[in-house]
Amino acid sequence: MTRAFVLTNHKGGVGKSTSATNIGLGITGVLRRAGASNSRVLLVDTDSQGHATLVTTGRNDYGADDSLYAVLSADRANAAQTLANCIVRSAWDEDLHVLPASPMLEGAERELMRVAGAPYRLADPLSQIAGHYAAIVIDTRPSFSLLTEMGLIAATDAIVPVEPRYLETVGLTSVISKINEIREGWRHPDLRISGILVTKMDSRIRGHNHLLDELKSHSVVSYAHHHHLSVFNYDPKAPASKAYAQLVGILVRRMAKEGV
Ligand SMILES: Nc1ncnc2c1ncn2[C@@H]1O[C@H](COP(=O)(O)OP(=O)(O)O)[C@@H](O)[C@H]1O
Ligand SMILES: [Mg+2]
Repeated sequence: MTRAFVLTNHKGGVGKSTSATNIGLGITGVLRRAGASNSRVLLVDTDSQGHATLVTTGRNDYGADDSLYAVLSADRANAAQTLANCIVRSAWDEDLHVLPASPMLEGAERELMRVAGAPYRLADPLSQIAGHYAAIVIDTRPSFSLLTEMGLIAATDAIVPVEPRYLETVGLTSVISKINEIREGWRHPDLRISGILVTKMDSRIRGHNHLLDELKSHSVVSYAHHHHLSVFNYDPKAPASKAYAQLVGILVRRMAKEGV
């Protein structure tokens, strides 16, 4: 079974898109270096803002015929074929493929609200092409909307990025309850919480060295975004790149242990 990692937290700016894109690229790289027969990774962008799509493909103008929107609005009989047709190769790596988001996804939520089986409109076609990929990484929007539900239902592993100062708030608890609700309420027993990913450290409560590391990692991420590059390409030695590399190592070991 192809594992599908969903990055989710209803709070914005916690690092979902940064993590989804870099983890996707990271898995491809680790698998290729390990000589895996399949190192293809599919990044699925379910956020209408399309940040993950923009940084990995250089475009954010996908629409009715060439984005996730097309998959969601296709006849169910054609949905898997539509999905396959919409996938594009990222500009980062030939093995990192992207199912792009579109601003039209905003309207899709309303259009599908009363359609029976709507929450499965991503999971069902995705499961038909999943075998082509070694792993799938799903980015979600900052809300518990229908599209986020679709992402969770299509996933096997949820990763929750959080900022450390946010840990104590009710936010994390509600993300975890939402994941549990999907697992129990939507007959999706395989969905598990794979990890809480601390994306930004609060430099104010740490020493100066940490502060420096922190500033470096933060600016690396924003510069990388600015240049439409992954953090690995922008600066492989930066703390954020090392942290993502370490996380990717853990995820790939877990995939290997359980059989891909
Ligand atoms: N791992 C990280 N380390 C440092 N800064 C990060 C990290 N992830 C994200 N950021 C910063 O936070 C901002 C928001 O990240 P983003 O991935 O767009 O969040 P989200 O998708 O949750 O809204 C980025 O522009 C970047 O500056
Ligand atoms: Mg985002």
